[in-house]
Amino acid sequence: THQWRGIIEEYRDRLPVSDTTPVVTLREGGTPLVPAQVLSERTGCEVHLKVEGANPTGSFKDRGMTMAISKAKEEGAQAVICASTGNTSASAAAYGVRAGMVSAVLVPQGKIALGKMGQALVHGAKILQVDGNFDDCLTLARALSDNYPVALVNSVNPVRIEGQKTAAFEIVDMLGDAPDIHVLPVGNAGNITAYWKGYKEYAAAGVSSRTPRMWGFQASGSAPIVRGEVVKDPSTIATAIRIGNPASWQLALAARDESGGRIDEVTDREILRAYRLLASQEGVFVEPASAASVAGLLKAAEQGKVDPGQKIVCTVTGNGLKDPDWAVAGAPQPVTVPVDAATAAQRLGLV
Ligand code: F0G
Repeated sequence: THQWRGIIEEYRDRLPVSDTTPVVTLREGGTPLVPAQVLSERTGCEVHLKVEGANPTGSFKDRGMTMAISKAKEEGAQAVICASTGNTSASAAAYGVRAGMVSAVLVPQGKIALGKMGQALVHGAKILQVDGNFDDCLTLARALSDNYPVALVNSVNPVRIEGQKTAAFEIVDMLGDAPDIHVLPVGNAGNITAYWKGYKEYAAAGVSSRTPRMWGFQASGSAPIVRGEVVKDPSTIATAIRIGNPASWQLALAARDESGGRIDEVTDREILRAYRLLASQEGVFVEPASAASVAGLLKAAEQGKVDPGQKIVCTVTGNGLKDPDWAVAGAPQPVTVPVDAATAAQRLGLV
C-alpha cells in the first residue's frame, strides 16, 4: 500500500503542475542508489550508482516524459513527436499509450539499439527512420512541431528538464546532502542540465547544504562540447550519446562552470571496459552509453584527479537489456550438455 507514486506526486510542490494537470505516470523514479564497492576501492572514495535503468521503460527518460506527456495532455495535444537515439522514443511510446495519444518518433536509421526499437514498435508508436543522424532527426522534429498539430517532447521542452531534475532530489533525500561530485554521460546535454537545476533548487531551499561539482563525459567520437565545435558525423558504439550538436550545449557549459566541474571525453574502449566492470564486478547491467560516467570517473582517478574520501554519485542512465549485443559480443559461447548430472558437474568445474 506504500508504493512509490511517481515523480509528479512525490515532488508535486517542486514541479510546474496544478491540481487540474492530468498525471500520466508509470510510477517512474524512486530508483535505487546502489553503493559501488569496487569503484569505491579503486578511487578511495564513497561511490554510489543511481540506477536509472530501473525506471519503467528502462531509462531516465521516464522522469521527463511523465511531465512532458502530462503537460501535453493538459494543453489538449492529441499527438506528440520526438527525435531520439532510442530511449526517448521508447519512453514517449509508452507514456503516449497511457495518455491515449499518438506518439511519432524520428530515429537515425540503423543507429538505434534493437531493444529500444522493439519498445517503440510494441507500444504502437509511428516510427520514421531518418536518413541522417540524431541532430538531423531533431531538426526535423522541431520543424514538424512548429508547423503541424504535434507537441515536441524532446528535452528542448523545458518540462522534460523539470521532470529529470527529480533524480537529484532523490539522491539528496537518500544521502542526507548533496555529494561532492556527480558524474553523468552527456549526449544532448539535457540530463546534466536537469541534475544541476535540481541540485541548485534543493540548496536554495535549504534541503541540502551545498551543490556537487558536475562532471560530464562524452564519447570521444561524439564530443562536440569537449572539442568546442559541432561534430558533423558523430560516431561511437554508445549509440544513445551519438550526438554532434547538443541542444543544451550552453546549459551544460553553465552547469560545468557554475559547479566548478568539468566535461571530458572517454573512448569507446574505456566505455566498454567500464561496461564490463559494472556488470561483472558490481552486478549492475547498463547500456554502453551509461557506462561513460563510470569510464570517466575511472579515467579521472587514474589521472590523479580524484581526491580520496569524497562522496561521488555516478548516474547510469539506461538498462543493459536495451542493447544486449555488447554483452554477447566477444563472450565465450555457453557449452551444451546432455541431461546428465555428472557431465554438467564436470563442465561447471564442480569436480
Ligand atoms: N544515456 C542514455 C542511455 C541516453 O539514452 C541518453 C540520451 C544519454 C545518456 C544522454 O543524455 O542527452 O540528456 O545528455 N538519449 C537521448 C534519446 C538523446 O533520444 O534517447 P542527454
